[in-house]
Amino acid sequence: MSEFIINNKCVLNGEVSVSGSKNAALPIMAASILVPGKISLKNIPSLSDIDIMADILKCIGASVSFHGDLIIDASNIENSSAPPDLCTQIRASFLVAGPLLARFKRAQVPLPGGCPIGSRPVDLHLKGFKALGADYIIEDGFVKLTCSELKGTNIYLDFPSVGATQNIIMASATAKGTTVIENSASEPEITDLADFLNKCGANIKGAGTDTITIVGVKELNPCTHSVIPDRIEAGTFMVGAALTGGSIRLKNVNCSHLSAISSKLAEMGLTINEFSNELSVSSSGIKKHTDIKTLPFPGFPTDMQAQFAALMCQSDGTSVITETVFENRFMYIPELVRMNADIKLDGRCAIIKGGTQLVGAKVRASDLRAGAALVLAGLCADGKTIVNDAQYIKRGYDNLEQKLKNLGADVNYIL
Ligand code: UD1
Repeated sequence: MSEFIINNKCVLNGEVSVSGSKNAALPIMAASILVPGKISLKNIPSLSDIDIMADILKCIGASVSFHGDLIIDASNIENSSAPPDLCTQIRASFLVAGPLLARFKRAQVPLPGGCPIGSRPVDLHLKGFKALGADYIIEDGFVKLTCSELKGTNIYLDFPSVGATQNIIMASATAKGTTVIENSASEPEITDLADFLNKCGANIKGAGTDTITIVGVKELNPCTHSVIPDRIEAGTFMVGAALTGGSIRLKNVNCSHLSAISSKLAEMGLTINEFSNELSVSSSGIKKHTDIKTLPFPGFPTDMQAQFAALMCQSDGTSVITETVFENRFMYIPELVRMNADIKLDGRCAIIKGGTQLVGAKVRASDLRAGAALVLAGLCADGKTIVNDAQYIKRGYDNLEQKLKNLGADVNYIL
């Protein structure tokens, strides 16, 4: 059990370079299954989730190595069955289902199951595969997919699921004919996957909107691709500046991916200045209360609501967070309450009374973003905060400890 220790409160000031996006890198790594030959991926963050996806690819026969860039060669994959011990560790492992099915006409992938933030079913992924011509059974904890060929079709998603959109794009990139995904997710990580596949020779249009058209191509060829910056890591540092009353310049960001976060921070009294691939955020000390409702992109990201909850504890009034994407994403609240936060939970809403001085405590990270929120809370709390189960933080934040130290924080990570 690892610990993230925040020894005392601080003011975050200085510059930080944001790492590549975990949620963009994982589907692109899965998509490499579709492409025989050496793919070179740049701006890959150093994270345990990335290592696990690399191990999954190795287990099914790909060659994967880090030489500054991440090099994947899927030419020799022969195994269409994904390893259960690794797959159950990360939900994104289910993203290998679409490309394995497309390449081998069969795939056997463990059900990702539930996780602390909600039940997270894969029915929309399966609906997409079925519409493309696949059959499946669920047996012994695996989804077993087969098809004689995948054929393009129209698929309407009942909810714009990020993972289902990605799996359907990958399954249809080399299918026969044209696939149209309606009510698709439009997150920047979808656009990055489409950009990568298009560089490999795919014909995908409309990524970034709610209708994506994929004209199947015969084969894909390797390319070099640099993944987009991590908008959630960037947002977490922006909240860090807000909550400690500091001023941070973020490098390697895409400002258009951060609009909802920037707008909410501006409403709360922060000054945000955008440059071409940099952004500065400075606090005047004022933290006005506000409300947030999580929504699919371009709405406010569910992956940022816990961090905002920590900030709202410091605001000048009562704020409400409404979570509409996942059913159980408030597990960090009892932990913030242990730090003297005044938060009440009412179904999908958290009602947060600002103006209480947070106090350091021993708390536990229930998931990645909960862990980030508790670290942020520790940065403005009186005394020492110890975040247990801090290995969750390593899943999504590349070198958070050193980056925070460089900004003036007194923190340690203990394995
Ligand atoms: C991705 C992100 C995650 C982010 C989420 C929403 C990755 C690796 N993870 O997760 O960080 O919080 O998008 O922005 O990119 N759903 C169904 N049936 C399905 C699929 C999803 O009901 O077949 C539901 C889920 O239970 C959830 C909602 O749709 O309530 C959103 O899930 P989805 O967009 O699929 O998120 P992920 O791709 O799992």
